[in-house]
Amino acid sequence: MQLVAKTLEGLEELLAVELEEIGAKKIEIGRRAVTFEGDTLCMYKANLLCRCAIRILVSIGSFEVRNEAELYRAVKSVDWESYMKKDETLAIDAVVNSEFFNHSKYAALKSKDAIVDRFRDKFGVRPSVDLKDPKLRINIHIKGDILNISLDSSGDSLHRRGYRSLAGQAPVSEVLAAGMVKLSGWDGKTTLLDPMCGSGTILIEAVKIALGIPSFTKNRRFGFEQWNNFKPDLWKRVKEFAFKKPEIELPLIQGMDMDNEAIAVAKENIAIADLTGLIKLTVEKFEDFEPPESAGHIISNPPYELRIVTGDINALYKMMGDTYKQKYGGWQAWIISSNREAFKHVGLKTSRKMVLFNGPLECRLQKYEMYKGTRKFSKLNKAKE
Ligand SMILES: C[S@@+](CC[C@H](N)C(=O)[O-])C[C@H]1O[C@@H](n2cnc3c(N)ncnc32)[C@H](O)[C@@H]1O
Repeated sequence: MQLVAKTLEGLEELLAVELEEIGAKKIEIGRRAVTFEGDTLCMYKANLLCRCAIRILVSIGSFEVRNEAELYRAVKSVDWESYMKKDETLAIDAVVNSEFFNHSKYAALKSKDAIVDRFRDKFGVRPSVDLKDPKLRINIHIKGDILNISLDSSGDSLHRRGYRSLAGQAPVSEVLAAGMVKLSGWDGKTTLLDPMCGSGTILIEAVKIALGIPSFTKNRRFGFEQWNNFKPDLWKRVKEFAFKKPEIELPLIQGMDMDNEAIAVAKENIAIADLTGLIKLTVEKFEDFEPPESAGHIISNPPYELRIVTGDINALYKMMGDTYKQKYGGWQAWIISSNREAFKHVGLKTSRKMVLFNGPLECRLQKYEMYKGTRKFSKLNKAKE
């Protein structure tokens, strides 16, 4: 099968590596997408194991179209009866990037008409639209004059892992959180802190990565489970294997937040994710926290002064930088934020910088390395070792 894994801008290369790990073939990196080839097993694994994917689409046809009539004819020509029954439900997502078509909503509507007309012509009965839980989620993509029709094997977007009880204030996308943990290079063996953990997304994704188990809850349903060609035995085996927790001891993984309610939500999410006991949580301010002995990683998603307004965002970022400098010698810290002005107030040298998108917000993920003692002496100590 020809497949497309959709992702967030900036996570394409990580996703390509994840696809390689599950045995995908002919992997090609695009913008916010990675195309690949694979069989049914590969498609099941891509949904369950690729943490940086948002959707896995299975291509079922490609056509040249330059106007609405051609679009209608192309969509109508697909053998839809092999994918769904006449009285079942469908939903259509359309993305249009073409001089021949202006509105994606209109392209979706035309495509829906074509499918239901095909059924009505053949059987006198038509499928209905169900945007929430359709039997078949169809993806229409028009770029220039090329129409690609795909089936969305994921159903719900893959950032919906199933563990988020309440959203909390300004949570980061689960896919982005997984991407940040991977980009930070955290190896699952050293201490990990999220000092402004909110609902715990970064910590939950990190533990799932360290354990090598899916980010989803076991009862998360996928689009392909409703398909006519669904192979329940194969899927059961994939899940049984993937969800087996390894016998490894995790390092200290700790989150804190000054907001009581945020920590209550994080606790609940961690319980739903079946990770109780693996993440330590406390209600406190980062500036008051005494770091543990063994140095490690700090990954945080502080307020940006958009959804959470602090009143003095620059002071908050300055506090973060000062705290790192004073108490976290030997650690590395990663901060994601869209607030470029506030970043300047961290006051530490950035050793890496990456552009990522948190929803529509263009953000930077920045790395700071804190040396033990002064930098000069740390170099000397390293040389001695
Ligand atoms: C953008 S939210 C984090 C969202 C989180 N990544 C999630 O997915 O839910 C920022 C959090 O920082 C917390 N916060 C702000 N200043 C803090 C401080 N000085 N110490 C600890 N937590 C703080 C807020 O209470 C808020 O929950």
